[in-house]
Amino acid sequence: MKVNNCIPLPLLLVSIIFLRICSIRGEEDSVHFHESAYSIPPNPSLLLHDNTYNLLSGNVSLVRNESAICEPRQLHLSLGDNQKDDSKTGMHISFSVPYLLDETCHPHRIKIVIQYGSVLNPGVVQSKEILPLEDDDSAVIRQYDTISPVTGERYQSDFIYHVALNELEGDTEYSYSIQVHDRTNSEKKEWTEEKTISSMGGFEQVDTRVQRGLRGNKSGSVENSNSNDDRKNPHNSQQQRRHRSLTFTTAPTRESAARQKPVKFAIVGDLGQTYNSTITMLNILSSTFKHADGDSTSMETPTTALLIAGDMSYANTIQPQWDNWFNLIEPIAQKIPVMVAAGNHEIECDGETYMPWAAYENRFHMPNRLGEAVIEPVGEEYIEDKWGCAVPSVFMGTYDYGNAYYSFDYGMVKTIVLSSYSFSNEASLQYKWLLNELKSIDRKKTPWVIVMMHTQFYTTFSTHVGEKETTVMRESMESLFVKYRVNLVFSGHDHAYMRSKPMFNGTSVENGKAPIYVIVGEGGNREGHSKEYLHEVPEEWIASRDKSVYGFGTLEVANETSAQWKWIMGGIGYGFEDETWFTNQYL
Ligand SMILES: *[C@@H]1O[C@H](CO)[C@@H](O)[C@H](O)[C@H]1NC(C)=O
Ligand SMILES: *[C@@H]1O[C@H](CO)[C@@H](O)[C@H](O)[C@H]1NC(C)=O
Ligand SMILES: *[C@@H]1O[C@H](CO)[C@@H](O)[C@H](O)[C@H]1NC(C)=O
Ligand SMILES: *[C@@H]1O[C@H](CO)[C@@H](O)[C@H](O)[C@H]1NC(C)=O
Ligand SMILES: *[C@@H]1O[C@H](CO)[C@@H](O)[C@H](O)[C@H]1NC(C)=O
Ligand SMILES: *[C@@H]1O[C@H](CO)[C@@H](O)[C@H](O)[C@H]1NC(C)=O
Repeated sequence: MKVNNCIPLPLLLVSIIFLRICSIRGEEDSVHFHESAYSIPPNPSLLLHDNTYNLLSGNVSLVRNESAICEPRQLHLSLGDNQKDDSKTGMHISFSVPYLLDETCHPHRIKIVIQYGSVLNPGVVQSKEILPLEDDDSAVIRQYDTISPVTGERYQSDFIYHVALNELEGDTEYSYSIQVHDRTNSEKKEWTEEKTISSMGGFEQVDTRVQRGLRGNKSGSVENSNSNDDRKNPHNSQQQRRHRSLTFTTAPTRESAARQKPVKFAIVGDLGQTYNSTITMLNILSSTFKHADGDSTSMETPTTALLIAGDMSYANTIQPQWDNWFNLIEPIAQKIPVMVAAGNHEIECDGETYMPWAAYENRFHMPNRLGEAVIEPVGEEYIEDKWGCAVPSVFMGTYDYGNAYYSFDYGMVKTIVLSSYSFSNEASLQYKWLLNELKSIDRKKTPWVIVMMHTQFYTTFSTHVGEKETTVMRESMESLFVKYRVNLVFSGHDHAYMRSKPMFNGTSVENGKAPIYVIVGEGGNREGHSKEYLHEVPEEWIASRDKSVYGFGTLEVANETSAQWKWIMGGIGYGFEDETWFTNQYL
């Protein structure tokens, strides 16, 4: 639900008290870690805590001052709307501000300012102020409460902000910061002290109190004069040189030449928050840095977006575990957009109302949304199901718009995200949307089309076979994938890895006739690996399979004809890897 009981704010009340800025990671050129940097397994117990894989990653991630109240946390990015205007691109910045009983951090009482600017043009800084106004759809503030059907406990979420920065330059690195101002009481001492997140200096010791402003020249002018108090502090200017702020890189605009540039996605499913999940996250984080590959002088393309094919936190209705998960993934998610699909672990019905999807819908904010989510309570049959309605594996229900299904462009790639658990037959809204979406693709602009969804049309594992939601969807949608020439289909659900040959109607077909299906559900969640193959001898349509090594994939689209796919293992010394080049089967 939206927080919309807002106070129109006389500007006089606005006290410009800098609470803090979120920060920071190392400068790119000082980040050297590569496979060898994490060859020694860390102490697993460390990884069960918030933000602990920063220990491995050289502490590039956020370390918080827990006593800093109203501090934005769980920072995560997703791509902004980029399909309405070919000359524009955007980014969503999402974060949570603590819900406190005394309402100290209530949106009525604070003002949040996001400053951002291109790192190439440090003199120009833009400011976006977030007021909890109903009619501003570039900033929504959500809060949800829900009762776990598993524990019976009620959970009240933090204030979850989703801020859209539209009209950004394409293919450009931006730095950004988030500031919280108390707008009710300038005397509040605990707010006056600067509170920042420190990088803890894995590579370079940084004064934790100067993570302010944007990277670059002090002399730059700030367009919005509300927020330049930091620049009055000489202590800061001295530090500004090495200033690191949060950064992200935008997707190229649809009309620019940059859309032809190579693009690399990390793709994983069924991630969870175990020791093994954390290793996967560390490797994903590592892939976002530019580093020389081996002894050659060439630079690898850094990962510019993370796609998660459903089953993120495994909170299973124990909502605080979502908070942990967002803390855990924050070092990645504050840097590259995280694009998600709805998994069964996101269904999480409420114990009283039986309304599903509360965390998934409120905590994420995917681009190019068709409208506010339409969700209905789960059917009675799920309430008595052995999984309850918390995480039914087999499920269909009303969930349209919102984060259910959506699409986005990134360079040469069009990604279509589907909801395995929303209705999907030919009469469904999802089907009609998909058909329109596929018809409207301009293959000159996006020669690659990929689909991501949680469940798999084809599997070699015995874990999830012939589930109703999947068979209904396959019956209605597979022929569309073929007709409209989808290149690759990524799914999770099976906690394992599989790559098919081009497939249609249950058998492999000639290259150029159908999509390739890839299962990436081996992110490392607590349920372990899929136990069995359906057949000991791989099916004729299998190109590669494994159920023993956690990891994630990278898809690097080099140009309109070639893309490299790599399965990156979670550990050292395991006996499985998969690496191949896909040629665009339809060109
Ligand atoms: C954390 O914040 C508190 C309250 O503002 C402050 O007293 C303390 O010094 C801070 N700790 C660090 C490590 O910055
Ligand atoms: C990371 O920070 C912790 C303290 O939070 C410190 O003990 C550890 O040595 C740091 N690691 C690196 C690589 O700097
Ligand atoms: C900072 O300003 C100096 C002097 O005005 C200029 O030479 C330099 O290029 C600027 N640096 C950046 C990163 O813009
Ligand atoms: C798919 O295969 C089944 C048999 O397994 C066959 O009956 C059906 O006609 C096939 N459909 C198409 C579209 O080829
Ligand atoms: C993580 O992986 C290791 C090695 O595969 C395994 O021994 C351990 O049980 C896994 N932990 C979890 C929580 O699955
Ligand atoms: C596409 O990229 C591949 C791999 O880098 C390269 O071998 C091929 O020549 C490129 N094709 C075109 C048309 O540029």
